[in-house]
Amino acid sequence: MSGINYSEKIPNNVNLVNDRTLQRALEHWQPKFLDWWKGMGPTDFQGSDVYLRTATSVDADGWATYGSVKMPDYRWGIFLADQQPERKIGFGDQMGEPAWQQVPGEYRSTLRRLIVTQGDTEPASVEQQRLLGHTCPSLYDLRNLFQINVEEGRHLWAMVYLLHAYFGRDGREEAEELLARHSGDADKPRILTTFNEPISDWLSLYCFTYFTDRDGKYQLKSLAESAFDPLSRTCRFMLTEEAHHMFVGETGIGRVVKRTLEVMKEIGSEEPAKVRAAGAVDLPTLQKYLNFWCSSSLDLFGNEISSNSAANFANGLKGRPDEGQYEDHVLRSSVFKMNTPSGTEEVPMLNALNEVMRDSYLKDCEIGLKRWNRQIERAGFSARLTLPATNFRRSIGAWMGLPVGPDGKLIAKEEYEKRLHEWIPSPEDRAFVHSLQKRVAEPGKMAGWIAPPERGINNLPVDYEYVKLH
Ligand SMILES: [Fe+2]
Ligand SMILES: [Fe+2]
Repeated sequence: MSGINYSEKIPNNVNLVNDRTLQRALEHWQPKFLDWWKGMGPTDFQGSDVYLRTATSVDADGWATYGSVKMPDYRWGIFLADQQPERKIGFGDQMGEPAWQQVPGEYRSTLRRLIVTQGDTEPASVEQQRLLGHTCPSLYDLRNLFQINVEEGRHLWAMVYLLHAYFGRDGREEAEELLARHSGDADKPRILTTFNEPISDWLSLYCFTYFTDRDGKYQLKSLAESAFDPLSRTCRFMLTEEAHHMFVGETGIGRVVKRTLEVMKEIGSEEPAKVRAAGAVDLPTLQKYLNFWCSSSLDLFGNEISSNSAANFANGLKGRPDEGQYEDHVLRSSVFKMNTPSGTEEVPMLNALNEVMRDSYLKDCEIGLKRWNRQIERAGFSARLTLPATNFRRSIGAWMGLPVGPDGKLIAKEEYEKRLHEWIPSPEDRAFVHSLQKRVAEPGKMAGWIAPPERGINNLPVDYEYVKLH
């Protein structure tokens, strides 16, 4: 079951060869995907040889092989984690019953919506990042960007497989639409706002992969709990790939901090203007980028109080991330203490699940912050990086549009507007970060605003030629 069949047009471990209709439908979609990749994927690097990993089995160990590949030749395919024999539903009102191998009619449209919303983010992020290759800080980073891009392309394949295999004609239409919407398009934008924000500098890429890919991790974890077994298995395998995306974010920000600290020591000053003049990202600017991407990603969890997420949980469609860590899996009798603009409110737990998920997400976000702050402390500086309060700059839910500072306090609207660019990047901050974005493409060389990584990919040295540009 784990073995992947690479001899077919579409690599897969779902026995596609035994379902001719489905195989034909997907082979019909494949050239459209490739057209999308060539038109909307990374610009100008389609002929470069990139050192990429490709999934060769879905086992926890040994699922990837590495080698030099031109991106359009990447073997995108359909890989599901192995089926757990006699898997049971792990939460909600049907807990303990057998997991579903088909879509129950009454949940069809809700499940389709969940899959389409997840699927839409995958190509969206590739589109957001398509110009970044031109300003890579090193070949190592360029390779990581492309690795993420091809894997997000594969995640699209994963969702398209589910749509084609389980949702009939509606599913096939949705699969077409996933290639028709585009990030930032005025007429046909991507579904979620964060995925329409352009990513035009590498600091934003590291923040995006740290905060927004981590939202993806939490969404995938909650869908991996789903009673709909094919969705669960699909998401379980996607999570193994997702880990690398967050690694790029965490180590990327860590390397920016490291370089900034080196510069601060060299010039004997923490003053932002002097740090900038020496060609590094000053810590206050980094803090603004963290505030921007963290608050933007928090919106992706939806309304604090949600009857949809209550129904999705009760019906077994979407659980909590790591459902196994909780004791109560039905949640008909517990309450959640929610921080709202009118004070603390007690909300039925089932209706507060978006907030529960947001809380566990934020705990996960703290880990990197602690690591970066240790770096700063060890270098002998007193500055500290923080996460903004969860009610800062929200565009959805109870705090939507309210003037709240990153410390979580409600303030006067005029003060908020006046001070907003102390908290998120101003046009000048963005212009400065952009001024640092110059392509460095010699093996082993790094841009001056970022430290080299501690090690290379797959035990290769840092100065390996990870992308041969031609
Ligand atoms: Fe993904
Ligand atoms: Fe990702």
